Amino acid sequence: MSDGGAGYIFEATANSSELERLQALEAIFDPATRELLASALELGGRRVLEVGAGAGSIARWLGEQVGAAGQVVALDTNVRFLSELSGVEVIEGSVTAVELPPFDLVHARYVAVHNADPGAFLEALVRLVAPGGLLVLEEPDFRWSRALAGPPRLCESFDRVHRAVVEMFTRRGMDPGIGSGLGSALGPSLELQTLQLSPHVERGGSALSQMMWLSTRALAEKYTETGCADESDIAHYEAFSHSPECWGLYYATGSLVGRRRAS
Ligand SMILES: C[S@@+](CC[C@H](N)C(=O)[O-])C[C@H]1O[C@@H](n2cnc3c(N)ncnc32)[C@H](O)[C@@H]1O
Repeated sequence: MSDGGAGYIFEATANSSELERLQALEAIFDPATRELLASALELGGRRVLEVGAGAGSIARWLGEQVGAAGQVVALDTNVRFLSELSGVEVIEGSVTAVELPPFDLVHARYVAVHNADPGAFLEALVRLVAPGGLLVLEEPDFRWSRALAGPPRLCESFDRVHRAVVEMFTRRGMDPGIGSGLGSALGPSLELQTLQLSPHVERGGSALSQMMWLSTRALAEKYTETGCADESDIAHYEAFSHSPECWGLYYATGSLVGRRRAS
């Protein structure tokens, strides 16, 4: 059944499937995220906000890094997977609506893309960074996706499904290319420290291609509703994502570190 709205696209996904998908995502991306955060700032004793904490692995790790002298707040519009976090304050709500004192570090990974009106979302993040503090963002750009090698019928379906991904986000007022647009979207209150864009080229059967299949399985109906892909494309996408003879550029991740100016 269509939800037709602009809420989190995985909101209606069964808890067990969404937890499996988020934990797959964490296993792939946590090492790079931890390196990005640890190299941006000495974390001990800091006050840190993890926005869209999902299944909680980065919030948990941040709690260990800041130690007893620091504080970590994990914020999510749905805290269904955050009940086991100890030493971390968990708050349910949207970053665009909460009132919190500013933080030394605000981090979000794959969250802005899920928000209609991404400009308002990014403004809310910047407001929560203390003067001199850091904003660290990691967001996807799905416009890069394309099949690179494999049987033509599977490659064509892979491309059609990724057109459906872009169309689904766009129709909901979300920006499927936000990962490439972070540097220009943030405005003068932030001084850019680093900006990177990493393409994810993967072989069928890899951890990332399996995670992308979990997303496609969960969102198949939303993709076919766009008219860009049909059920046979979804079946071919599954075959593509499992087959070692298929290679795809699944998407790219844009990451940014910015310092909030003092005034
Ligand atoms: C794709 S998941 C990413 C989870 C986690 N950041 C990670 O990378 O492992 C996006 C998460 O952001 C949350 N979310 C989306 N919009 C939000 C908002 N405006 N404020 C707080 N959380 C939000 C969703 O509920 C979901 O848990």
